[in-house]
Amino acid sequence: METRVNEIAERIFRFSTCLEGVAPGGFTFNQFLVLADEPLLFHCGMRALFPLVSEAMKKVMPPSRLRWISFGHVEADESGAMNQWLAAAPAATVVHGKVGCMVSIADLADRPPRAADDGEVLTLGDRRVRVVLTPHVPHGWESLVLHEEVTGTLLGGDLLTTTGDGEPLTRRDPLEEVLDAERKFHAWALAPQSSALVRKLADLAPKRIASMHGSSYEGDGALLLRRLAAGLDDLVDARRASLGEGARASRPTANVAGRPSAPSTQPQPR
Ligand SMILES: [Fe+2]
Ligand SMILES: [Fe+2]
Repeated sequence: METRVNEIAERIFRFSTCLEGVAPGGFTFNQFLVLADEPLLFHCGMRALFPLVSEAMKKVMPPSRLRWISFGHVEADESGAMNQWLAAAPAATVVHGKVGCMVSIADLADRPPRAADDGEVLTLGDRRVRVVLTPHVPHGWESLVLHEEVTGTLLGGDLLTTTGDGEPLTRRDPLEEVLDAERKFHAWALAPQSSALVRKLADLAPKRIASMHGSSYEGDGALLLRRLAAGLDDLVDARRASLGEGARASRPTANVAGRPSAPSTQPQPR
């Protein structure tokens, strides 16, 4: 087992470890380093991967230089090695949303985290990352993504999960593989607001989307995210149908202004 290092955007490095047995063809766990004046690591990896990933980071910079640590949500692959990174980097601070800090991280982390608001921009010196809170997207109440605004790179966590050990960065359309993975894993906390939040991320118009599992994507990120949102709506419908519910019956219908119509509270004639 090895952790490979690739630069997927200018001074944004991907550390990728493929584990066999998780899925046919393997399954990658990817951490991303924004090598700014104040370097930021997005995703800690599992505790057991820390020796490999920290050695990989040394090919780029000493881990002790880290200033910021963040992750999509609290889960072993996203945050498992958080305290090992805090120990390796004495000046590092975990930054996360207020819910994540309040509910979990203030207790789990060996040093106090910094709580960020939705939309807040964290200046890393020569780089800027915008914190976008995405509750339950793809899963976890505290979920967030980061958008690195200088390169237009969305650190998207589990949004584009695919199996296999593909290239670090691809322009190939991943949508069907992403939806296939979701049909297999059921990892999304799919809810009526899921696709709306993904459409909100599309408005960031990212030039590339760094994926925690699988290849990162370079291309029209807005279009891909809008198509993902439509695919998620279809999955919600399919799951409702599998539960014996009408697929679209309970979805609000748009009125002529494009706004959802409020359900009628008046008695209906029989
Ligand atoms: Fe996750
Ligand atoms: Fe993950």
